Amino acid sequence: MDERIAVIGAGYVGLTTAACLAELGYLVTCADVDAVRVGELRSGRLPIHEDGLGELVQTHLADGRLEFEVGAVHAVVDADVVFICVPTPELPDGSADMSFVHSVATEIGPRLKSGAIVINKSTVPVGSLRQVERSLARSDVAVVSNPEFLREGSAVADFLQPDRIVIGADDPEIAARVAALYRPLAAPILLTDPVSAETIKYAANSFLATKLSFVNALAAVCEAVGADVDEVMLGIGYDSRIGHEFLRPGPGWGGSCFPKDTGALIRIAEAAGYDFSLLRGVVDVNREQFERVVDKITRALGGSLDGARIAALGLAFKAGTDDVRHSPALEVIDRLVARGATVRAYDPVVTVSPSADVVLADDLYAACVDADVVVVLTEWDEFRLVDLDRLAGVVARRAVVDTRNVFDRAALQRLDFTFDGVGRR
Ligand code: NAD
Ligand code: UGA
Repeated sequence: MDERIAVIGAGYVGLTTAACLAELGYLVTCADVDAVRVGELRSGRLPIHEDGLGELVQTHLADGRLEFEVGAVHAVVDADVVFICVPTPELPDGSADMSFVHSVATEIGPRLKSGAIVINKSTVPVGSLRQVERSLARSDVAVVSNPEFLREGSAVADFLQPDRIVIGADDPEIAARVAALYRPLAAPILLTDPVSAETIKYAANSFLATKLSFVNALAAVCEAVGADVDEVMLGIGYDSRIGHEFLRPGPGWGGSCFPKDTGALIRIAEAAGYDFSLLRGVVDVNREQFERVVDKITRALGGSLDGARIAALGLAFKAGTDDVRHSPALEVIDRLVARGATVRAYDPVVTVSPSADVVLADDLYAACVDADVVVVLTEWDEFRLVDLDRLAGVVARRAVVDTRNVFDRAALQRLDFTFDGVGRR
């Protein structure tokens, strides 16, 4: 635990990495350019909703193992190891924007200790490690790829109990030093070259997105042939080569990573001379899924969205997070509004409306007052506990479209609601 660690970026990945490394016993300085964010964190307030993270931050602020700085340079001067955890958003052409990573590397290059290791945790295009080396311009500093696989909503648990740790380094001694950082975690460690490590990250997210597009496409087949997608997934999941995980149908997949990472892998493959038509299909099926949900809502309204009042339950891209970046809920809502509907929404943790077109309600029932149709878009547990009699009493029309299959359909039908789910008979 002698290594002093700097983490650059205090978002979902950086803040989780910093707090969890402090939990493992390291002295960690976490830096962000956002002074307001740093101010809040210094007072123990979390800028994001993430289970268990607030407690870790407060504990290690108090025991002095975790501190926050504005700007990367102050954090790196004493650091033996620096983690880069800044955004790599999608550019208009689908490729990843590396400007945040390069600006950090250029900024910290002259300030790093000799012999320091820079570890890239941001998701970056294959071959980026070499570019980071050039931006750092330090022959006495090693750069390592160490992609992150945590999920929002379970970030702390995923960091502390990872399925695997991937380390891409040219020098086996450097790789061993990075692997040693993770020794307290009982996880398989894959030591590989940087290009393979960078490819593993995109491959994992793209494979998971492929699974989901398959499930959503199969849900459409189930609806057409009269099968139940939950039963079908259970049936195929018992095959140990398939497994039960990550097979829930929904309104389409989203979030800050799958859309940009599938797009980036398509671009990476294209630039290398391979047309990744399978992955393009996966993305197309996802776009179709948003449209299919809009069609279901239109049908539930009797054929037209114009002037319809819609109650949207859930805005986050999945339960357990307040993140609305590329949320399927917003993809659907934007399409509804464009076709003349008005939307009142409720989400248990999203407290600021992400769009001028969405009015936020204080609770589920307030969102549903006078609604022509209630649409479930995020699978919050709270929605499973809905009082259906009360719901029936406030809506204008008894119609539900449940894109996460969380409501009790039989109970709704007893109350004369029309019901449409995803992939159900
Ligand atoms: P985020 O947007 O939540 O946080 C990034 C933070 O970096 C922000 O607080 C921003 O102010 C800060 N920042 C930007 N430029 C900076 C600079 N020059 N110096 C210091 N701080 C700076 O992003 P995130 O979701 O944590 O994602 C970070 C990277 O990790 C991305 O490449 C993403 O693809 C990858 N990733 C994300 C997840 C996830 O679940 N969110 C999981 C695995 C990998
Ligand atoms: C995903 C990966 O799961 C992480 O391993 C990865 O580190 C991360 O991206 C990243 O690179 O940022 P995350 O985006 O937090 O994590 O969320 P997921 O749980 O993967 O969900 C992504 C989307 O798929 C959500 O819209 C979710 O609702 C949807 N989903 C997920 C389903 O529709 N069905 C499922 O069975 C699972």
